[in-house]
Amino acid sequence: MTKATKRIAVLGSTGSIGKSVMDIVRMSRGRLEIAGLAAGRNTALLSEQIREFKPSMAAVMTEELAQDLRSGVPSDVNIVYGKEGYKAIASMPDADLVVSSMVGAAGLIPTLAAIEAGKDVALANKETLVAAGALVMDLVREKGVNLLPIDSEHSAIFQCLQGYRDCQVNKIILTASGGPFRQKDSSQLRDITPEQAVAHPNWSMGAKISVDSSTLMNKGLEVIEARWLFSIPPERIQVAVHPQSIVHSMVEFVDGSIIAQLGMADMRVPISYALMWPERMKLDLPTLDILTCGPLTFEPPRMEEFPCLGLAFKALEMGGTAPTVLNAANEVAVEAFLQKKIPYLSIPRIISDVLHDIGGGAMENLDDVLRADALARLKAHVLIDSQGEPA
Ligand SMILES: NC(=O)c1ccc[n+]([C@@H]2O[C@H](COP(=O)([O-])OP(=O)(O)OC[C@H]3O[C@@H](n4cnc5c(N)ncnc54)[C@H](OP(=O)(O)O)[C@@H]3O)[C@@H](O)[C@H]2O)c1
Repeated sequence: MTKATKRIAVLGSTGSIGKSVMDIVRMSRGRLEIAGLAAGRNTALLSEQIREFKPSMAAVMTEELAQDLRSGVPSDVNIVYGKEGYKAIASMPDADLVVSSMVGAAGLIPTLAAIEAGKDVALANKETLVAAGALVMDLVREKGVNLLPIDSEHSAIFQCLQGYRDCQVNKIILTASGGPFRQKDSSQLRDITPEQAVAHPNWSMGAKISVDSSTLMNKGLEVIEARWLFSIPPERIQVAVHPQSIVHSMVEFVDGSIIAQLGMADMRVPISYALMWPERMKLDLPTLDILTCGPLTFEPPRMEEFPCLGLAFKALEMGGTAPTVLNAANEVAVEAFLQKKIPYLSIPRIISDVLHDIGGGAMENLDDVLRADALARLKAHVLIDSQGEPA
């Protein structure tokens, strides 16, 4: 019996995750097809992807970029742009599943549009659940769609939980590589450059998530993501630094048993699981040799040297829109660091100040989220501008 083809729309197809999604489509032997593609500004790569995967619709950030794209692709491809364009890709009638892999809070509205349209969503964009977890999960339940994690840690937990009920879980153990500066003290962290921060020891990722990984904010965002995805309170989420990035996360059950998911550090594995779930896809990728991979070690995170993780727990405790504020302040601070406007150690300081000043208001609708996000960005920019000379 031939198996059905799944048609997918990809938001953020030109990014690190987006390119890995394309690899999985190539490896799927026709089981996956591309219905639509959305990118930000990289029209050169997007037009290559359009020629290879033949979507019926594609989106870019602006009208000018759309015009530029139209000249290089077949005329029967519908090229759209901006927020409405992204929403159109997210709700394409002939897409069975939407991959949410834009970076940052920009991913929130198209992801909500996909859920609203009744699509299953393979979620890489962790900022969606960080900024608006309660709203997103309410809509997921209302629409009866599946939210399938792509983040390797959440995919690991999702895999460990298959066949178990929530009430059988004691806690979730999120593993963290510890990033490139795991063993550095505060005085050594002072002069970290963007080039050093984006060079992750185990994973190849986009610039923003690489910096987040180095500050441990990535783990903080993942704690918040896990809280919503698995409906578990923060006090039952533990973070363990595991420098080898082989155990991708674990679940401890009520009888004390711990189930873990292990494998090579290659995002194509969790991506393929999210795209093919509940099946698994045969992947022609290097596999883990358990006899030669060396010792697996676990240690507690150094919360004092890396305060971003504690700030994420604090934002969860504050509730409401506090995680939205945390996320927005982090995005602005990381961008300023990448542009060499602020030093590395200002990232947690700015986030802490913004969180302290704005706190968390009620999150009853999307407007509450957008307002908190805008306010936090404004406050973060003011703090950055008041720092004076470039770093
Ligand atoms: N990379 C990983 O291994 C990894 C692992 C787990 C989770 N994630 C999460 O997955 C998401 C994507 O990460 P990534 O590493 O793939 O990022 P990335 O390499 O920076 O790619 C980001 C993608 O989003 C698009 N984009 C950026 N800003 C946009 C905007 N304002 N509007 C519309 N599109 C925009 C980019 O388009 P252009 O390049 O065309 O401008 C690109 O396609 C993030 O939320 C990250 O936390 C990533």
